[in-house]
Amino acid sequence: MIKIAVLGYGTVGSGVVEVLNTNAKVIAKRAGQEVEVKYVLDLRDFPGDPVQSKVVHDYSIIAEDPEISIVVETMGGTKPAYEFVKTALQSGKSVCTSNKELVAAYGAELVHIAKSKKVNFLFEASVGGGIPVIRPLNQSLTADKIEQINGILNGTTNYILTKMAKEGSDFADVLKEAQELGYAEKDPTADVEGYDACRKIAILTSLAYGQQVDYEDIYTEGITKITAEDFRYAKAIGAAIKIFGSSKKVGGKLYAMVAPQMIKNDNPLFSVDDVFNAICVTGNMLGDVMFYGKGAGKEATASAVVSDVVDAVKHMNVNVMTIWEDEKQEVAPMDEMENRFFVRIGASEKGKAEAEFGEIEPIDGGISDEFGFITEKMKEKDFNEKIAGFDSFITRIRVGF
Ligand code: HSE
Repeated sequence: MIKIAVLGYGTVGSGVVEVLNTNAKVIAKRAGQEVEVKYVLDLRDFPGDPVQSKVVHDYSIIAEDPEISIVVETMGGTKPAYEFVKTALQSGKSVCTSNKELVAAYGAELVHIAKSKKVNFLFEASVGGGIPVIRPLNQSLTADKIEQINGILNGTTNYILTKMAKEGSDFADVLKEAQELGYAEKDPTADVEGYDACRKIAILTSLAYGQQVDYEDIYTEGITKITAEDFRYAKAIGAAIKIFGSSKKVGGKLYAMVAPQMIKNDNPLFSVDDVFNAICVTGNMLGDVMFYGKGAGKEATASAVVSDVVDAVKHMNVNVMTIWEDEKQEVAPMDEMENRFFVRIGASEKGKAEAEFGEIEPIDGGISDEFGFITEKMKEKDFNEKIAGFDSFITRIRVGF
């Protein structure tokens, strides 16, 4: 029997206990032995909950108990999660975590400590909730050079954009509704400003190339400026507007960003709606491979955490190699990234648009005194310089087709 401790009895932590109880038999079979939760660490007590007898408030009880061989960290944030996880690894315990802030900030270091101690630091649930994507990147896509990763990595914003597209509603109204339904957090900043997706694409890109990508280096733009009018244009050309975490290697340079993009139905991510996430990885031999499923939610995320627990049990005292060097991988400046842009400007500057951007095909979004068009591929810097000369510029959205 393997004894584990769960740090944090919130949504994911309680989900982990639930998955372990509900699927105890099949998990024991796959892990080769039973898995028992010995401790739950939380600041709170849970009177009436079956875990109450296991609740401890002092982490040292767990850290110093030699019976605990796996620590599940589902607290979120880096303080005190980082110290707790580091201590666990240093004392020879494997760690399974759902915490993307922790993994994005300290992944390389924690992977190294795990390796040196012949234990495992596993984080399948940190990106894409229940979707298996970390393990495939580490263990399945090992014959390919990864050319590109493109992911719908945040359920809250995908839900909001899907609703805006279907109902023609404004961002603020849909956000309010999503909060009332419990889909969006009371403080939705991390989701709607793209910070959550930024950490996730930083983790995926670090793993794809085996080197540290700092999330602070990734250009990040959220969905707060996307309007109902933008969707009228998108509809007119049969496009969807989604927010992506993307990274790609072009000519040896790494480009990465989080930003809304217009895509058409030839993109495999076109129909990924509501709270679902999907990640499309392009390998130089394999071509496109796509991972789709529930990117958030108690059971789905807990399922991914428990799959890590099973992996850790199967690999007791054996480190499953994860290549994540702490040597930093430079992200090319955003100014140099080449993109196409959908642009809205006032009708009065049509002539100027033709002079600056060449032959353009106007898009009618049914809104008076303005029109839209799509530019050729150009550097971000060149686009920004050109568009700064337009008095009637309304907005721009990058185009992923
Ligand atoms: N807030 C996140 C989302 C939860 O909406 O996708 C999963 O990381």
